[in-house]
Amino acid sequence: MDLRKEIREIQDFPKKGISFKDITPLLQDGKTLKYLTKEFASQLKDLKVDVIVGPEARGFLVGTPVAYELGIGFVPVRKPGKLPAETIRYEYELEYGTDVLEIHQDAIKPGQRVAIVDDLLATGGTVLAATKLIEELGGEVVSLNFLIELGFLGGRDVLKGYKVESLVIYE
Ligand code: PRP
Repeated sequence: MDLRKEIREIQDFPKKGISFKDITPLLQDGKTLKYLTKEFASQLKDLKVDVIVGPEARGFLVGTPVAYELGIGFVPVRKPGKLPAETIRYEYELEYGTDVLEIHQDAIKPGQRVAIVDDLLATGGTVLAATKLIEELGGEVVSLNFLIELGFLGGRDVLKGYKVESLVIYE
């Protein structure tokens, strides 16, 4: 299946000059959702992954079915103030200002093998922040798996040392 054909490109969203990659057509079609879930699962099947982490919000949508397919659990990384129990936080730089992500402090056990699944690799800032949170809790990040990679933004360069896989790459 050619996933690229199913991704809807919306010009000038959310800002002029941006060609937004809309994954909702892939999620709303049962066959496509099953296909991409199985593709992720097959990338991860030999890595002895204990748990999938997905960043808010679209990482929840693509990450949870992969965890289900592998028969393992799912842990959310969220924007600040959303998680109810004790959290740890990681603050990171954006082009203008900073952003924060949080994870429950008991969500990852030391030594657990973790894969991060998200819909999009753009600058890499989000997923790098997620790796910091997982590693602070003693987890080992064994793979970073994306539905879409915007290669021209160079996200891979900030993720050196990690295994990075993407189902669709825009060069
Ligand atoms: C998007 C996307 C990734 C992140 C990628 O999430 O789902 O998590 O941006 O960008 P980066 O590689 O430059 O960090 P967004 O923050 O838009 O949140 P959303 O999923 O809640 O819309």
